[in-house]
Amino acid sequence: MTKIKRFFYNRRVVRYYRKGKAYLNNLEYLKTQQESKKEILKKPSRTTIINYLLSLKKGDTTYLEIGVRNPEHNYNHIIANIKYSVDPGIEFKKNPVDFKMTSDMFFDKLIKDEILTNKIRFDIIFIDGLHLAEQVDRDIENALKYIKDDGFIVLHDCNPPTEWHARENFQYKNTPAGDYWNGTTWKAFLKWRGNSSVHSCCIDSDWGVGIISKHHPLGKSITTVNTFYEYKTLEKNRKEHLNLIDFESLKQLF
Ligand SMILES: C[S@@+](CC[C@H](N)C(=O)[O-])C[C@H]1O[C@@H](n2cnc3c(N)ncnc32)[C@H](O)[C@@H]1O
Repeated sequence: MTKIKRFFYNRRVVRYYRKGKAYLNNLEYLKTQQESKKEILKKPSRTTIINYLLSLKKGDTTYLEIGVRNPEHNYNHIIANIKYSVDPGIEFKKNPVDFKMTSDMFFDKLIKDEILTNKIRFDIIFIDGLHLAEQVDRDIENALKYIKDDGFIVLHDCNPPTEWHARENFQYKNTPAGDYWNGTTWKAFLKWRGNSSVHSCCIDSDWGVGIISKHHPLGKSITTVNTFYEYKTLEKNRKEHLNLIDFESLKQLF
C-alpha cells in the first residue's frame, strides 16, 4: 500500500471504529439489548400456554398452526388429537407441513370446501405466520369463523419490548434488536382488543402470547384506542391496552 493510500485507509478505519463504538455504547442500543435478554428469559413458552389451553378441553382436540417454520420449535410439541399446519415455506426450506400455502390461500380453499371440509372447527388456531398488521388482522377474522364456540385464537409476538422489535421490515437487522423481530402483530391484536364481541388477554411471556375467545371471559375489550397505533402510546399503556397478565392469572380465569 502506498503511503498516501495508507493515510486515507487509516482515517477511514478510525472513523468506522468511532462510529461503531458510539453505536454500541448508545443508551438506546444498550436498553434494547437488555430488553431482548429479559424477554428470552421469560417463562412459560407459547407451547406451554397452548398445551394448557388444550388441556382444558374435554374430548378430542383439533389444532391448526399458521406459520410453522421448524416444527421442532413448537408444532411437534403440541398435544392435540388432530393437528394441521400451514406454511408457504419462506423461512424453512424443508417445510414439512400439511398445506404449503399462505394463510390467505388456505382460508380461501377451506371456505370453498377444496381442502379438509368447511364444516371443520378447531379448538385452537395458532396464528404465527406473516407478522404484519393487515395480514394478522385478516388471519384473526378468518380464524374466528373456524374456531369452536369455546375455542381460542392464540397469537405470537403481541408484546414487542421496544420499537426496534416492532419494526415493519423483517429483513433489516442493523437495529438494536438485531435478529429479534415481532413485526406489527401487536397492532392487529390491539384492534381486536377494541372489539366487544370477543374477549382477549396477552400473556406477558415469549414476546407476548395473545389469546382471543368468543366465549371465555379473558378480559373486557377497551374503549380507549391508540387511533394511530403509535408505539409510544402502546409503551405507556401496555398493561391496559393489551390486557397483559401473567400465566398464573390466566389459570385463575378457568
Ligand atoms: C415466526 S415463524 C413461525 C414459528 C413457529 N410458529 C413457532 O412457534 O416456532 C413464521 C412462519 O410464517 C411463515 N409465513 C410467512 N408468510 C406467511 C403467510 N402469508 N401465511 C402463512 N405463513 C406464512 C414463514 O414461512 C415462517 O415459517
